[in-house]
Amino acid sequence: MILLDGKKVAEAIKEELKNEIAKLVEQGKNIPGLVAILVGENPASEIYVRSKAKDCAEIGMRSKVEKLGPDTSEETLLKLVEKYNQDKDYHGILVQLPLPKHINEDKIIEAISPKKDVDGFSPVSVGNLVIGKDTFASCTPAGIQELLVRYGIETKGKHVVVLGRSNIVGKPIANIMLQKKAGANSIVTICHSAAKDLSLFTKQADILIAAIGSPNFVKAEMVKDGVVVVDVGINRIEDKNSAKGYKIVGDVDFEGVSKKASFITPVPGGVGLMTRAMLLKNTFKAYLNFGE
Ligand SMILES: NC(=O)c1ccc[n+]([C@@H]2O[C@H](COP(=O)([O-])OP(=O)(O)OC[C@H]3O[C@@H](n4cnc5c(N)ncnc54)[C@H](OP(=O)(O)O)[C@@H]3O)[C@@H](O)[C@H]2O)c1
Repeated sequence: MILLDGKKVAEAIKEELKNEIAKLVEQGKNIPGLVAILVGENPASEIYVRSKAKDCAEIGMRSKVEKLGPDTSEETLLKLVEKYNQDKDYHGILVQLPLPKHINEDKIIEAISPKKDVDGFSPVSVGNLVIGKDTFASCTPAGIQELLVRYGIETKGKHVVVLGRSNIVGKPIANIMLQKKAGANSIVTICHSAAKDLSLFTKQADILIAAIGSPNFVKAEMVKDGVVVVDVGINRIEDKNSAKGYKIVGDVDFEGVSKKASFITPVPGGVGLMTRAMLLKNTFKAYLNFGE
């Protein structure tokens, strides 16, 4: 069994981007920039945004956090997004979700220029992904594919079984793996909670991608020998031995499944770190494609 080490690969991606940005600085060129817009006071969102800004700083990417109060109107937010759509120093715009209830999230996401939609959540980006055009794929699924590619895992003609059909993981990763492209070209099955017997599908998987949000759900008897397992789940479960009183586990019972798997991601240390690295990569891509 080989660990799909998201930490190592994410570090490698960051190192590559850092070198590219250093070259731009040397040449006296503008550098890529990412603005994160945070509305309200959600502690988890604050942590996410802070870690994204820290990632940018590590690789020399310009970054800014726009922190707005919880009563910010939809109109004010739309104006701010529009301001950054025009700003030549910020090539990626990220609006941290969830937004306060009085703001229509769809409207805000749709207002982000598709050229700067580095989260890949807008209907334009999603549509382009589905029809196989070059676009920004959202960061978690893009990170999953990158991990598979960097470990040299064959995907062409392989049966990829995706557990979960959310718009941020399940559907986009299924669409990515379906494309007739390198690092994809797979036979894809998407499963969800209406499946009567999930094992029927999971046992057929050459590559199993679990994104259901249910701790240790996938057991050894549900997979075949040699399966490649990507565990997207991030679940908090009680742990009396930990000072915090909890620990983070994935959707896959790592202990059992890793005995049968050829490759498997750990949780933590797998997909989560890839998600962060791909946001930087998408921002660099936005700079290359549309920056000056
Ligand atoms: N590592 C990362 O960077 C990252 C990023 C995003 C999410 N996550 C984690 O990934 C997990 C999934 O996130 P999400 O946002 O995709 O979750 P979500 O929006 O809650 O979607 C969960 C999906 O799983 C399906 N599902 C739930 N229980 C199931 C079961 N027993 N059998 C079959 N399907 C089942 C649901 O089916 P229905 O559609 O029928 O309800 C739904 O499609 C969570 O643990 C989340 O924290 C990690």
